[in-house]
Amino acid sequence: MAEELIIPADTDRADVYKVLTPQIHALIEHESDLTANLSNIAAALKQAFGFFWVGFYIVKEGQLVLGPFQGPIACTRIPFHKGVCGASYSRKETIIVPDVEQFPGHIACSSDSKSEIVLPVFHRNGTVAMILDVDSDKLDDFSEADAVGLGAILKLLERKL
Ligand code: SME
Repeated sequence: MAEELIIPADTDRADVYKVLTPQIHALIEHESDLTANLSNIAAALKQAFGFFWVGFYIVKEGQLVLGPFQGPIACTRIPFHKGVCGASYSRKETIIVPDVEQFPGHIACSSDSKSEIVLPVFHRNGTVAMILDVDSDKLDDFSEADAVGLGAILKLLERKL
């Protein structure tokens, strides 16, 4: 396993995802523990992009429960129908929110979070296992490049569920 990530000093996120994804693959492929893998994925994304908050909400006890993350402390439990995470869980789709104040029902864990992208992670049977939530302290910080890049990383994770 690589002990250090190699991250290009590149402002093009798509290029960074291209270099980061195989390194995340190497990090998780021989580790079977889910907590260990989610922790390293969150840390790698935080290190590569400097996102304000990166973390997982895991489907547990009929709600979304905070899992491994990097960033400031966050809300611990989110009902399935609440917030951007709940919307992504219910719709089973990636949601990009350019301005969190414009998203009805957005849950503000931190007032510094201005935009976010939220992606579902699926079990083999198509049910949602968890949600990846990435927050930025800049408005309109996420695009289709993040949806594609993060989606590819989550595919690696889904193979291990
Ligand atoms: N903003 C999310 C809640 C989680 S935090 O941002 C870490 C939401 O509306 O679901």
